[in-house]
Amino acid sequence: MASNKFILLTIVAIFLPAITMATDYIVGDDNGWTINFDYQAWAKDKVFWVGDKLVFQYPQGYHNVFKVNGTAFKNCDIPPADEALTSGNDTIVLKTPGRKWYICGVSDHCAAYNQKLAITVQYSYGSPPAPAPSSPWAPTPGSWPPATPPVPATPTQHWAPAPQPWSPTPSPPAPTAPWPPAPSPYPWI
Ligand SMILES: *[C@@H]1O[C@H](CO)[C@@H](O)[C@H](O)[C@H]1NC(C)=O
Ligand SMILES: *[C@@H]1O[C@H](CO)[C@@H](O)[C@H](O)[C@H]1NC(C)=O
Repeated sequence: MASNKFILLTIVAIFLPAITMATDYIVGDDNGWTINFDYQAWAKDKVFWVGDKLVFQYPQGYHNVFKVNGTAFKNCDIPPADEALTSGNDTIVLKTPGRKWYICGVSDHCAAYNQKLAITVQYSYGSPPAPAPSSPWAPTPGSWPPATPPVPATPTQHWAPAPQPWSPTPSPPAPTAPWPPAPSPYPWI
């Protein structure tokens, strides 16, 4: 059906940038996944996006890869052996944003030889999130409350006959609303 095709194309158009931009990272580069390598230094200058891949390369049997949580990472708690990746060319697709932790579970490689990697994966559909623009009209933390309290405005004062300097034609009076507003009959709104 035409509409289905259109939806499919739209989905492809949305996801294509992420797919084309995905990067494969050989963990540790030429060193691969091994002991006595500073993986935090390796990861420090890299930005990982959803859709990127980590490839852990090592001689099969000498190391392995466990994905763990932050606690297990810190303490080098080795999960059950059946959770290990052991191929020697273990590819992990970074599917979700957030903090990710990986350790080697062979012997005491994690605890004694620092064979562990922690990264932060950024959420992405192709473009990095723009930093929030600073709004000039937003009060800065130090400037609120203002040093000179503003004259409290009352509804009558607001519609005083004297025209405001920025509105040469007087605005029509606002419809009179009861103030304070009656409590909402739906208190959860
Ligand atoms: C971390 O993972 C271990 C198992 O590997 C589990 O026992 C522990 O509860 C987890 N901790 C958190 C905070 O999820
Ligand atoms: C490792 O796996 C990747 C795919 O994840 C593949 O492209 C590559 O050829 C593999 N390398 C070896 C040496 O098997």
